[in-house]
Amino acid sequence: MLKQDIVNKILGLKYDVVNNQVSAFAPVNIALCKYWGKRDDILNLPVTDSLSVSLANLGTTTELSVNNETDQVYLDNKRIVENSDFFNGVINYIDLFRRDPKLHFTVKTWNDIPTKAGLASSASGFCALASALNTLFSWDLDDHKLSIIARLGSGSASRSIANGFVYWHAGKEQDGMDSYGEPLSYVWPELMIGIITVSSDSKAISSREAMACTTKTSTLYQQWPKRVSVDIENLLKSLKRRNIALFGETAESNALGMHATMLDSKPSILYWLPETVEYMKKIWKIRHKGIHLYFTIDAGPNIKLIYEKTDEKLVREHFPGIESEEVFG
Ligand code: PMV
Repeated sequence: MLKQDIVNKILGLKYDVVNNQVSAFAPVNIALCKYWGKRDDILNLPVTDSLSVSLANLGTTTELSVNNETDQVYLDNKRIVENSDFFNGVINYIDLFRRDPKLHFTVKTWNDIPTKAGLASSASGFCALASALNTLFSWDLDDHKLSIIARLGSGSASRSIANGFVYWHAGKEQDGMDSYGEPLSYVWPELMIGIITVSSDSKAISSREAMACTTKTSTLYQQWPKRVSVDIENLLKSLKRRNIALFGETAESNALGMHATMLDSKPSILYWLPETVEYMKKIWKIRHKGIHLYFTIDAGPNIKLIYEKTDEKLVREHFPGIESEEVFG
């Protein structure tokens, strides 16, 4: 099945530009139980469910307008050259919705976080673009459909549709109409996420390639779906009780499990830098003193700290200069 089939199924014939210039914001989401491995790599359908938390104040803002000349893409106020990876990623996605070949778009996008450094900018990026298209064409999509449309750009974008906790159902259907992000109602005002940027360089291997290699070659990956079910159950339990120990331990161990499957791939994939490991050791040392400080790492060398507001001062003392975010701030 092709992306275009899904777009046609959801949107039918709604391709009249209703608004000439629109703007949309989508938050970054940090996976607590990771999406790693696709059951369909065209539609970005995952092997397992996953669960994330969005950072209300960090994300992507995208301004979309129409013009009659040529497609233009800007990232953080810089014009992106045609046919670069970034340009093609944006325009190939927009092409799914372009019925009139004479219609051209100007896309201006600003990220609050470095692009393609494992800080989940593709998730907020594609979700903001999907959301801008939704307004431009006046599709009036609900969360479920917007999530599916965003997923066609990047899997994890399906979870950037809302603030707070979002559960992405893997679904079973071949067309993926049952694979979407569902916002959860849990609120945890004390919860903090800290971002340690070890490097903002683009990753050497894309998460798409890394997932494909892991699912094909890692023996350890065979255990992944089973452990995801257990981790999700524990995360939901921890959310109900705002149990930071269970929450943090589960998220951290899930991330390490994902990286273990990558190490077990042939060839091995390792996103960490020496500083990443130093930070991990430092976090463990602090935790051994009884502080509830945990971490998660995505497909990159950067670290996201997980803790509660009561420990903010202490975390800042140990990690001066980090960016810290109140999840429900
Ligand atoms: O959506 P993608 O293709 O950028 O993959 C994201 C994969 C991870 O960030 C490593 C995990 C996740 O669940 O977000």
